[in-house]
Amino acid sequence: MKRGEKVVIAVIVVVVLGLMGRNLWRIETDHEKDKGIPYYSTASATLAREASDIYRRENCKGCHSLWTVRDMLESVPAPILDGIGSLRNEEWFYQYFSAPNPQEILPSRLKQEYRMRSYAQLPEHERRLLASYMASLKVQDWYLEETRKAEYEKLTGKEYRP
Ligand code: HEC
Repeated sequence: MKRGEKVVIAVIVVVVLGLMGRNLWRIETDHEKDKGIPYYSTASATLAREASDIYRRENCKGCHSLWTVRDMLESVPAPILDGIGSLRNEEWFYQYFSAPNPQEILPSRLKQEYRMRSYAQLPEHERRLLASYMASLKVQDWYLEETRKAEYEKLTGKEYRP
């Protein structure tokens, strides 16, 4: 092999390795981004367990995702419940779960089969448990702040000052 050819091959190898490395890096960072909304629960271990039992029994994950768990086979466009307790309070959840027609509280444009069910038939203490657990799911403050900042700057084009 001529010296010139060796140089060309070396350059190609370096370029290819470089591209591969960059793709790997990109996959890693995409993965980072894909963690979803950072949130936590203030619930006690007992509350978390009891509420999760009801959540599982009623198959809420057939439609919703929580702790990024959801049935992938079903693709109902239901809201993600991660951090939902930063949006609404316990009393709201209780009223919502107890309503014979939840769409009177939260209107829906979805097909009937996809809509939020009424859980008015559950025993009161179970509705309270669920409400209390939902209210305990809080979004990390720094994430709310960053989202607010990004929204503000996108909408106004101005720098955000809290
Ligand atoms: C058949 C699918 C389905 C099931 C099962 C279901 N939901 Fe829903 N849920 C929805 C949809 C869709 C909405 C949005 C409102 C609508 O379209 O009716 C919603 C709304 C909600 C909301 C309000 C979200 C917000 O934006 O404030 C909460 C909380 C909730 N569901 C919790 C639950 C819990 C807890 C269970 C189980 C006990 C459950 N859901 C079961 C589909 C479902």
